[in-house]
Amino acid sequence: MTDTRTIRIEALRFNPETDSAPRLQRYDVPFTPDMSVLQGLQYIKDHLDGSLTFRWSCRMAVCGSCGMMINGRPHLSCETFLRDLYPGPVRVEPLDHFPVQRDLAIDQAGFLDKLAAIKPYIVSAKDKPLSEGPSRQTPAQLDAYYQYSQCINCLLCYAACPQFGLNPDFIGPAALSLLHRYNLDSRDIGWSVRADVANAEVGVWECTVVGYCSEVCPKGVDPMHAVNENKVNSALDYLGVKRLLGGR
Ligand code: SF4
Ligand code: FES
Repeated sequence: MTDTRTIRIEALRFNPETDSAPRLQRYDVPFTPDMSVLQGLQYIKDHLDGSLTFRWSCRMAVCGSCGMMINGRPHLSCETFLRDLYPGPVRVEPLDHFPVQRDLAIDQAGFLDKLAAIKPYIVSAKDKPLSEGPSRQTPAQLDAYYQYSQCINCLLCYAACPQFGLNPDFIGPAALSLLHRYNLDSRDIGWSVRADVANAEVGVWECTVVGYCSEVCPKGVDPMHAVNENKVNSALDYLGVKRLLGGR
């Protein structure tokens, strides 16, 4: 027999084009133990209210598109289960600190600009013809940046960051983690091509080391560590020591 219970989901509704203020709308959702919050929202959309707006794609914590505040904390809705939130209610809201596009969907444009600014790709010292084959790395060289390469751009860390809440120009935890990921890659030129972003007023020094970004990351990335390591790089750069030490 299927174990079906009912839980109340309170969803923030807001259309900036027509509404003067956000409001909460309540839905009673039947659920089975295997249903995530995302599936609860999909039930609402399919059976109760087709106008509810939210993002999702992979349903398996890979694409990073389903992030939202769930009971006041940033989560991926596809890997948060209704059974763990029973008896509810479950409050779902858009990620903190971002402009709302509609209901639970945020405007990601500012983050995409920041992502482009850190050059999220390998910058090689020289063009290498394909005929020379792959650029091999040792396991140790891979380990140096591996955790930072796990970022799925879900933006939970930005919703957790009080500094980003105060200053939306702060380049922020995920972009700085990815900056570090490429700087640590043995195939990349490193610090010299991204120093301007890290050293900027809204770069690493804007971070006040709260650390909540690292706590909420669903992929085990430690953005606070990346930022701290780049504070050291930035200080050495300022003092002119980084180049003396042979930093890339
Ligand atoms: S660092 Fe973690 S929380 Fe931040 S965007 Fe990447 S995966 Fe999401
Ligand atoms: S739907 Fe892709 S991470 Fe949740």
